[in-house]
Amino acid sequence: MFDAPFTFSIPLPLPIPSRQDNHIRRRLSSLKGQFLDTAEYKRMLAEEDRLVYEVYEIRRPKVAGELLSGISIVHPGKVGSEFFMTKGHFHTVLDTPEVYYILKGEGFMVMETPEGEACVEPLLPNRVLYVPPRWAHRSVCTSRQDDLVTFFVYPGNAGHDYGTIEEQGFRKLVVDSGGRIEIIDNPRWKK
Ligand SMILES: [Fe+2]
Repeated sequence: MFDAPFTFSIPLPLPIPSRQDNHIRRRLSSLKGQFLDTAEYKRMLAEEDRLVYEVYEIRRPKVAGELLSGISIVHPGKVGSEFFMTKGHFHTVLDTPEVYYILKGEGFMVMETPEGEACVEPLLPNRVLYVPPRWAHRSVCTSRQDDLVTFFVYPGNAGHDYGTIEEQGFRKLVVDSGGRIEIIDNPRWKK
């Protein structure tokens, strides 16, 4: 691994960074139990295990003092009325933040604290979102045809806790309500 300064580019409209060490592809099957409409989820999965989102990582040591960065791409789509989204996670080291810079597309970041405080922020090109320590986060793509592309940076020691969200879900959901985007309470939250 390099220990000299380095640069890379993100040659939009192609969102693949010129330097990257790892490409993660998350399909519908990896989001089991996350979408509210379980019957529709099963039906879609039986038809095709669609690609929901991808991450390109620029690898650095996973230690405090380092910064991990990369590109997240959430593809357009819905399960029932619920838009395609990332699994979402708390950081294993809760007291670590994250910064997102939105490059392309439109969507929302759904966030909450372990105490159940919730926040949903719009993601639009050229905007920056600061996720403070302790806030779990999930990106949701609400465009009908365009990917949601973000650049993220977080501390090297943060780690990912996916299990808590897999178990309890997020308090808020982003849904298509007859062509209008709505943020609703998740009836299955912590149940
Ligand atoms: Fe994160």
